[in-house]
Amino acid sequence: RAKRPAGAPDKKLARPITKVGVIGAGLMASQFALLFVRRLKVPVVITDLDQARVDKGVAYIHDEIAALQTKSRISPDEANRLRALVTGTTDKSLFSDADWVIEAVFEELGVKQSVFAEIEAFISPDAILATNTSSLSVEQIGSKLKHPERLVGFHFFNPVAVMPLIEVVNTPQTNEVTLATAMVIAGKLRKNAVITRDAPGFVVNRVLAKLLGEAMHAVDTGTSFEVVEAAVAPFGLPMTPFELLELVGLTVGAHVLDTHHAAFPDRFFESDNLHKLAEHGKILERDGKGRRTGF
Ligand code: CAA
Repeated sequence: RAKRPAGAPDKKLARPITKVGVIGAGLMASQFALLFVRRLKVPVVITDLDQARVDKGVAYIHDEIAALQTKSRISPDEANRLRALVTGTTDKSLFSDADWVIEAVFEELGVKQSVFAEIEAFISPDAILATNTSSLSVEQIGSKLKHPERLVGFHFFNPVAVMPLIEVVNTPQTNEVTLATAMVIAGKLRKNAVITRDAPGFVVNRVLAKLLGEAMHAVDTGTSFEVVEAAVAPFGLPMTPFELLELVGLTVGAHVLDTHHAAFPDRFFESDNLHKLAEHGKILERDGKGRRTGF
């Protein structure tokens, strides 16, 4: 009989998932909420601070379902079934029977800690909790929970529908049932899952922060955006560092660099320019046809 690799949980321990709760209805949360309905085919409840944010997330999911139908990836019946599985609400009591609750709210430790402390009062004692944090400590996020052993990191990449990886972040507190459930869910979502340590940036963002931080540092020390783009583009990356920063969002990108700089000041740069650009919302200017026209 094949032996499990070291660190891999026994998948037989995984809890069945009959309902998913998603906290946050922004860029990442609405993308993975769609993936949950599509691949797990269970009801998904999605919430945010107010109804306007919830409605925006649900509208994104409906648009993407319509796009899948237009591309003939799903039938009209399937599109109806998927839409019917999505509930947007500000009523947290709808989370009471969710087995898997995952958050992608603002990347701030205190915010995530209070979101989990609040939701723990509503959910079943057996529910598993997951955070999509990109570089905060998962153990610290769970430090206000009564049951931190049921929290795991479950880190998606943008665009969720396309990127093949999920980082499953195993804290010293995470128990085997939680880890096994996360791995089984990742498989059902048809993603490759790697189990990482709860270290700043896990694995992917640690590597990406080097690229993005060095690109911004070149700008911060006097090289133009155009020169950095032109110099890095020929290396076969699917996107230049600045396009990638725009894709992940400049506020999130600046946060990732700050977190790495705080953890390893001699190895990672922070960038004042990136914070300023985050207020503006973009780095690259484009004309109506989507071409870059300058900075
Ligand atoms: N949502 C859904 N599908 C999308 C999409 C989106 N936002 N963007 C692209 N796609 C799909 C397209 O529909 C298309 O699918 P089909 O071929 O089935 O129709 C496919 O992806 C390819 O798209 P395009 O041909 O338009 O574009 P492309 O070939 O240039 O690829 C890309 C686009 C996949 C985004 C590619 O540029 C890429 O891989 N970029 C790097 C992305 C990356 O590194 N992401 C990780 C960021 S880090 C992060 O997210 C985590 C964090 O913590 C900060």
